[in-house]
Amino acid sequence: MVVVEGENGAGKTNLLEAIHVGTQGFSPRARNDAQLIRFGEQAAALTLEVERDRTRHELKVSLVTGEGRSATLDGGRLASAELLRRDFPALVFTPDRLAVVKGGPAARRAYFDRVASRLFPARAGIPQDYAAALAQRNAGLRRVQLGLSDRGSLEPWTARVSALGAELIALRVATLEALAAGFAAAAGELGLPEGTLAYEGEAAALAAYDARLAQDVSRGSTGLGPHLHDVRISSASRELRPYGSQGEQRLALLALLLAEVELLPGGPLLLLDDVLSELDGRRREVLAARLTGVEQTVITTTHRSLLPAEPAQVVSVTPGRAV
Ligand SMILES: Nc1ncnc2c1ncn2[C@@H]1O[C@H](COP(=O)(O)OP(=O)(O)OP(=O)(O)O)[C@@H](O)[C@H]1O
Ligand SMILES: [Mg+2]
Repeated sequence: MVVVEGENGAGKTNLLEAIHVGTQGFSPRARNDAQLIRFGEQAAALTLEVERDRTRHELKVSLVTGEGRSATLDGGRLASAELLRRDFPALVFTPDRLAVVKGGPAARRAYFDRVASRLFPARAGIPQDYAAALAQRNAGLRRVQLGLSDRGSLEPWTARVSALGAELIALRVATLEALAAGFAAAAGELGLPEGTLAYEGEAAALAAYDARLAQDVSRGSTGLGPHLHDVRISSASRELRPYGSQGEQRLALLALLLAEVELLPGGPLLLLDDVLSELDGRRREVLAARLTGVEQTVITTTHRSLLPAEPAQVVSVTPGRAV
């Protein structure tokens, strides 16, 4: 465990974000590239030396205003920077990520689809394939609405959306099943009893799409399927999105990350930003004990004494410097 300590504004989040960009190819804050480049500059570059499965690797990511990102792995250029995350998975906690628990369904869908792609790499393409088929069908619906084509032209797209939708639902359900036990255990330790994850939504047969075709045509979009589904995150049958306290929502997100860490082979990098705030002393202790068992964790804090554990390394951050 590495503790990154520093005052507010010292650059702790920047450091964590750099590690994330360097290993995943994108920022966890989903900001545009320009925000990642130092004010007044046109480009940024970072190099990471990573040891994985006892082999050293060199990861380089560079960002140029207007040109986007590029990455190399051990000197070889990657087709896209985001390919890095296949080989160097990192899980991240940032206060923004609390949206996974307390935000709208879209944030949860995006989160669990990303978890799914890490847990089931062979099926990682399903969410994108479904989104592409859905976009095609929606475009088709608008053509029918404008009288540019007939309803029969939609049939292949409806069949594809229905089939891929069923695959996507199965993938998400498998993901929740894989996480269930670890989530309940971690949540329980952190003081959230009976933690559960439930998929909300059902696969729709072709007949269901046909039944609402007129509505879909008039809206120009598909009103049925996994792009509208949700995941209910609860503790003791209480849904945490509307009813959880700030601290409980934070614990639920942490429990999700801890559950996933146990499932990923080789141990992913765990990046925890500002995770300790809002947690009481007992929960900080439980978390510290849990993290001691996780091989690669980087955790930021304004005061290292907030983390009741002996880290392997403490990095002190002052503006522009980390030692
Ligand atoms: N593109 C940029 N170029 C230069 N400085 C930037 C850029 N983006 C952010 N900063 C500055 O970097 C500083 C450090 O921010 P950072 O979020 O890393 O601090 P922190 O140590 O995480 O603080 P806190 O404890 O409040 O979370 C901030 O003052 C911010 O304004
Ligand atoms: Mg910060």
